[in-house]
Amino acid sequence: MPSTTSDKQYKVTISLDDLTPNNLGVLRKITEKVLPTSYPQQFYHQVIESPSTSITKLAYFNEVPVGCLKAQVLIPEGKTLPSCCYVDSLCVIKAYRKFGIGQQLLDYLEQETIKKFIHTIKLHCWVENKPGVEWYLKNGFQVEEIVKDYYKEQELVNPDAMLLVKTI
Ligand SMILES: CC(C)(COP(=O)(O)OP(=O)(O)OC[C@H]1O[C@@H](n2cnc3c(N)ncnc32)[C@H](O)[C@@H]1OP(=O)(O)O)[C@@H](O)C(=O)NCCC(=O)NCCS
Repeated sequence: MPSTTSDKQYKVTISLDDLTPNNLGVLRKITEKVLPTSYPQQFYHQVIESPSTSITKLAYFNEVPVGCLKAQVLIPEGKTLPSCCYVDSLCVIKAYRKFGIGQQLLDYLEQETIKKFIHTIKLHCWVENKPGVEWYLKNGFQVEEIVKDYYKEQELVNPDAMLLVKTI
């Protein structure tokens, strides 16, 4: 069942719903529209093929899909226990930002991470994406390291990334 929040003044309804094989293309569209990275088809199919290690949701603004979350449980090679949840994509289409949609997706991710007995969330963020970095810092993330040339393939002006980490 989708979770729902309503702002009566503007009649805005924000809800989160599951990813299915039928709406996988929506995850792809939103991710490609928002992030400077393009991923192979397999990246998206992983969600359906490995549900136990995926944390995903689509976010809807009055029933229009405008945001998405795709994170995966990372298990280091040779280990059985996960080390962290890694966020591949947590995006909200520009026109629909500042309605709390990103916050709902992050809250969901944190709840699901805790349910899996994992206490660390990580992601990479382009160093020049100041609003993105600021948003994560405000939400309790810290900069673990600067990863040189992380976005080299995307031919960004400054291709370094910040590895952001939150302990929950
Ligand atoms: C980062 C991102 C996911 C945030 O999504 P969002 O839906 O705008 O996030 P929220 O609405 O929860 O919070 C954004 C701001 O809106 C404010 N806000 C939330 N609900 C609000 C409301 N109803 N009215 C006014 N402001 C509101 C929040 O307090 C927050 O304030 P801040 O700008 O001072 O931090 C979104 O900007 C995005 O997709 N960016 C591009 C991707 C990106 O940069 N990712 C970074 C890592 S790669």
